[in-house]
Amino acid sequence: MDKFIIVGGNKLEGEIEVESAKNAYLPILSACLLCEEEVVLKKCPMFEDIKNMCDILTSLGVKVERFEDELHINAKCANNFFISQNLSKKLRSSIFTLGSLLGRFKQAKVAYPGGCEIGLRPIDLHLKGLRALGVKIKEFHGYISCDGSGLCGADIYLDFPSVGATENLIMAAVLAKGVTTIFNPAKEPEIEDLQNFLNKMGAKVCGAGTNSIKIVGVKKLYGCTHTPIPDRIIAGTYLIACAMCGGKMLIKNTISNHFSILINKLQNSGCKIKQFNDKIYIESTKRPKSINFVKTMPYPGFPTDLQSQILCMQTISKGYSQIQENLFETRFKFVPELLKMGANITIKNQIAYVLGVKKLFGAEVYAKDLRGGVALVLAGLCAEGYTTVCDVYHIDRGYENLEKKLSLLGANIKRERELK
Ligand code: EPZ
Repeated sequence: MDKFIIVGGNKLEGEIEVESAKNAYLPILSACLLCEEEVVLKKCPMFEDIKNMCDILTSLGVKVERFEDELHINAKCANNFFISQNLSKKLRSSIFTLGSLLGRFKQAKVAYPGGCEIGLRPIDLHLKGLRALGVKIKEFHGYISCDGSGLCGADIYLDFPSVGATENLIMAAVLAKGVTTIFNPAKEPEIEDLQNFLNKMGAKVCGAGTNSIKIVGVKKLYGCTHTPIPDRIIAGTYLIACAMCGGKMLIKNTISNHFSILINKLQNSGCKIKQFNDKIYIESTKRPKSINFVKTMPYPGFPTDLQSQILCMQTISKGYSQIQENLFETRFKFVPELLKMGANITIKNQIAYVLGVKKLFGAEVYAKDLRGGVALVLAGLCAEGYTTVCDVYHIDRGYENLEKKLSLLGANIKRERELK
């Protein structure tokens, strides 16, 4: 397993370009199954999750070719609706293929998904919604078997605005007979991007970002070209890194209103931030003030995918803060690793109570999931001395060559490759 070796204390200075959003790319890749013509997706990052999703498409008979940063995908010859355990367990978004397989083949057999171990992550909302669309579902031996011969538009009421369930149900509905309305959908920007992509293919989807999404079923979808939106979580990660290490950074390829809540928190903590067009400039010249209180909520609330990073920032901020995690039951697994570095954190009932210390000390720490892992990198960048972050394969799922990008900004970080 690769490791990052970090020597902390350097300021971060320079320019960085943000990749396309992992969580936009993944449902869009699944949606390519819905048409029998070529789809061209631009600015494709080399995240492990994207490679794994492409492997799933290939296993279904889809032609996937990469030309530099473009993916050319043609599902014309897709001839399979079965996804095995060894492919499905590698990522959460394998479950998103249920909707697109049902839309295309009116049947699906998918093994339970994997992904970051940050909670139970049930799929009951996905299945309840598919049943509302007339899908017959059997779950046994770790597989979800769906008969979508009766797929038909319906009203669906989500008990929780689940991102994945919303995306899955949209994809199941676009080729279904009749009209589907999803009430209480997730409002994340990635869902609006999926809506825009599907409509480019000839679908009729509207309402993404509002309290209900309407889908009018169509007979056929067509190929198109699309560039998914920038990754708001990567942009937020770089902003927090600069706030922690000090320095000044110009972050390019961003849509800042996708994370304005973070920008406001960082400004309150003493950072100078300017936004113009698709760029953000941040300057941090002193130890940040604590942000007092933050609770993770569905969009447009504070994103759970930035919880680990903002919590890590509080460990060296001036003062006392509370971070409440409301979406995932075990998203504080990285905290014991921060305690090894001298952080002052106690956890009670899904709230992390943090008293900022003047500095953290380098240590050997282990990534347990994607965002918790990147938070440990941020801690190492500003800690005194050496930090080794182990099991960085978690981080590679959602950040491309992170060590190279941080080195270009002045960080002292190297990847130690495990000898195979
Ligand atoms: C998506 O996961 C993202 N992943 C996650 O990003 C993100 O943290 C999450 O949305 C919330 O924003 C992708 O898009 C690939 P949910 P998803 O369904 O769809 C409960 C990252 O780091 N729930 O919105 O799995 C669930 O347990 C990853 O990039 C049910 O109870 O999230 C959780 O408490 C991590 N039943 C809450 O809803 C269901 O059927 C939010 O989950 C589905 C979800």
